[in-house]
Amino acid sequence: MPTDPVLVVHGGAWAMPDDMVDAHLRGVNNAISTGWRVLDRGGSALDAVEEAVVIMEDDETFDAGRGSFLNRDGRVQLDALIMDGATLRAGGVGCVEHLRNPVRAARKILSESPHVYFVAEGAEKFAAERGIALCKNEELVIPREVERLHSYQAELAKRTQSQDGNDLFAGSPDDVTISHDTVGAIALDCNGNIAAATSTGGTLNKAPGRLGDSSLIGCGCYADNESAAASTTGWGEPIMKLVLAKWTADRIAAGNLPEWSAQEAMNYLKQRVNGHGGIIVLSRDGHFGIAHNTPRMAWAYKTVKKHDAGILRES
Ligand code: GLY
Repeated sequence: MPTDPVLVVHGGAWAMPDDMVDAHLRGVNNAISTGWRVLDRGGSALDAVEEAVVIMEDDETFDAGRGSFLNRDGRVQLDALIMDGATLRAGGVGCVEHLRNPVRAARKILSESPHVYFVAEGAEKFAAERGIALCKNEELVIPREVERLHSYQAELAKRTQSQDGNDLFAGSPDDVTISHDTVGAIALDCNGNIAAATSTGGTLNKAPGRLGDSSLIGCGCYADNESAAASTTGWGEPIMKLVLAKWTADRIAAGNLPEWSAQEAMNYLKQRVNGHGGIIVLSRDGHFGIAHNTPRMAWAYKTVKKHDAGILRES
């Protein structure tokens, strides 16, 4: 018997200012509309999460694709992962600088390579050889982010005069006023399969070559039909240390509901490593959880019965 599909997306967890709320809601709703079209015509969860994430990568509102945060050198450097819960096949790219939609390259890796992960020029070469157009890094950079980086670096320069600048230069994981606009999608299709995808520009002012949680299996993204599909957002280093997406999926495999497991993941992130962020998680029976421990998180979901979206507020 066919399963009723479910699609859930997020567009970052942080102290989003009021004047950015509408753009985030529009962005996550657009992602839902596009991903749902795939599921509604009987397409796979894998295709749905890819298409939903592409929409958010193309939307400059988010820290993914064009319009992402800039690294310390003023360049966009992107990470993405996609994973198929039915087969455990996965594709990831890290530190790519010439791809508008890193999730498309990640999908090619999943579908067409015996490997799981490519980084930097190797990832771009792989993508180009499979027909994905490369772009100049400057095409991914927008004035808003140049301005953001300059003011951040100016502020850090002031604050580091009397301190060791190395830690501060990368920013602070507990500063929730800095955007963590990583995007992600999780889906259940009519065949009962689940999938997940996550894409990010990483953290503001990151060191060149720094890789975050988003594109690492089990950290920022995970999918296994025997447990759950999950995508996280937030400061990557604490999330990586806890392998948080897999940690959460394991709670569901042990019999807990996704709603509870998502909240537990946020509690664990805060208590264990003082981390901040958010998570969406979905099991094969169609239950899903959305949680965050930041002041706000952009999210949306659609089932056959209901479509909803919001900017959750911290309780
Ligand atoms: N969660 C995005 C990053 O830290 O790279």
